[in-house]
Amino acid sequence: MSLSPLWSTIISITFLILGGIALYTMLSVQGRRQPPDYQRYAAWHRVAGWVFVILFVFMFISMLQRVEDYWEESPSRIALHVSFAVALVFLLGLKVLIPRFFPKLLKNVFVLGVSVYLLAFTMVWITAGYYLVNQYHETPYISHAELPEHMLDAQLGKQLFIDRCSTCHLLQDIMQVRDTASWEEVIDRMIELAAPRISPAAGGQILHYLVETHTPQLVEEGTPLEMHCLPCHKQHEIMGVSYSRVGWQEVVGRMHEYGPEIIPEEKIEEIVDILMEMQQQAR
Ligand code: HEC
Ligand code: HEC
Repeated sequence: MSLSPLWSTIISITFLILGGIALYTMLSVQGRRQPPDYQRYAAWHRVAGWVFVILFVFMFISMLQRVEDYWEESPSRIALHVSFAVALVFLLGLKVLIPRFFPKLLKNVFVLGVSVYLLAFTMVWITAGYYLVNQYHETPYISHAELPEHMLDAQLGKQLFIDRCSTCHLLQDIMQVRDTASWEEVIDRMIELAAPRISPAAGGQILHYLVETHTPQLVEEGTPLEMHCLPCHKQHEIMGVSYSRVGWQEVVGRMHEYGPEIIPEEKIEEIVDILMEMQQQAR
């Protein structure tokens, strides 16, 4: 059983509302000059408090599984979330034990209750809040468009590229030049595929680095090879291979996707003809 982010957000917010009710009833009973209907408030406090505890235990157990899914050191946001949850186990334990077994300490329960709520509140908002903000901006994955220019740093992007992408690839295999749209598509796919190893923000930095350094320059004049292939390739990369006509059609069609401006759709057949000719001459 693993909760979807949407469900854990809904449960977490219910959890906060119940905690809020428990806190408010306690504040009213202990703090008002004219104490309210004690029976009723105490009953509300007890019900809200216990459901709060039950939801917490349920979330704690299901989150344990999620934490196991991280195969690298957790991002700091998650690490904080987990630390708060563990601290909450301890404080909630005290809060439940004191009225039962250590009644002389009852006067301290107020501070304890507030601490419990403070922890719960912070714990929920650093994750559920983050999720909601992402949903609001409709950026479940990559947020490069949202990262302000001044926060993008090609040097940092390069470090992240080396660190994050080399776990699965030889870097030389994935550094082939392609245009911005094609890089976006690749990075989006890699974030999803490698989740949760590459955060959207890290993906944005990597994308920035690659777009700055590994995109082609449009060549206006020259031989077909210079105009359509050499913006992205070294000459020998192309001269070294040979294909049938169908093979070249497939390759050039794919190249079109990496740089539609450099290889326009309507030129594909013409370029294939030229490649076939060059290949014959080279024999
Ligand atoms: C968890 C392993 C993993 C990580 C990490 C990873 N990749 Fe990949 N990558 C793959 C796999 C598997 C494929 C082939 C399947 C596919 O293309 O969807 C692939 C394919 C690619 C391709 C070829 C796609 C194409 O359409 O030509 C490129 C380029 C690439 N990755 C770049 C990157 C970059 C850049 C990063 C770092 C941001 C990265 N990868 C991180 C596993 C990974
Ligand atoms: C916009 C950039 C871009 C342009 C322009 C481009 N390529 Fe590529 N090419 C790539 C990328 C990225 C790869 C690596 C990913 C892959 O193999 O799909 C690649 C890989 C290749 C490969 C090796 C893969 C294979 O299947 O054999 C060949 C051959 C190739 N290109 C030929 C060409 C030729 C010929 C042209 C000119 C007609 C050309 N490319 C133009 C980006 C480009």
